[in-house]
Amino acid sequence: MLDNISEIRVNDFIMSLSSSDDEEIMKLKEFAIENDVPIIRDETRDFLRMIINIKDIKNILEIGTAIAYSTLVMHKSNVDAHIYTIENYEKRILEAKSNINKYFDKNKITLIEKDAGVYLKECDKNNYFDLVFLDAAKGQYINWLSDIKKLMKSGGILIADNIFKDGEILESKFLIKKRDRTIHKRMRDFLYQIKHDNELTTYIYNIGDGVSISIKK
Ligand SMILES: C[S@@+](CC[C@H](N)C(=O)[O-])C[C@H]1O[C@@H](n2cnc3c(N)ncnc32)[C@H](O)[C@@H]1O
Repeated sequence: MLDNISEIRVNDFIMSLSSSDDEEIMKLKEFAIENDVPIIRDETRDFLRMIINIKDIKNILEIGTAIAYSTLVMHKSNVDAHIYTIENYEKRILEAKSNINKYFDKNKITLIEKDAGVYLKECDKNNYFDLVFLDAAKGQYINWLSDIKKLMKSGGILIADNIFKDGEILESKFLIKKRDRTIHKRMRDFLYQIKHDNELTTYIYNIGDGVSISIKK
């Protein structure tokens, strides 16, 4: 029925139905846009909210804090959940800290200032997280997967953002510039792995820049 209507129009229509967002969330979004900080798209934000609202979530692990915009979206969706969020870029850590001080319940947030790969290896919170939100270096998703699975509870959810990388991942590798081929291959490997992993049930959605949702058996 929607064959002749572009996806952009459909998305715009859906988004036009939203009431205006929380003032603090809007402030962070405006800052991100003004300062070229990459943050989740509106459709991904709503998808995250939906998952958090329908699932009983106590502990969240976010990989890729930036300035804590998506962190705040998740915090406001469930103020009782504890969010552990990882960021390794000093400039963003400073912004994230300032936003956390202003807008978060300090007992419900832990900012981890280090490389995600290092933290995921050393973290001993096995079978602990109800939700992992993966939104950092796309080429590392495949490398981090086994450590992430170890930290997820049975029934826990892994959401990975930007899995289409602005559509690039859908293209044949021969159409990708040489310097981007490694990341193209690694993301394709990640998607194949989560779809065929015996410990996960995975669904892939054309939401925002592509979102995967994997449930640990
Ligand atoms: C797309 S941004 C995150 C956006 C954020 N989730 C939001 O929507 O508000 C990705 C962030 O991951 C961080 N990052 C990338 N690689 C990382 C790594 N290996 N360890 C920790 N943080 C990393 C980047 O510095 C960047 O701030």
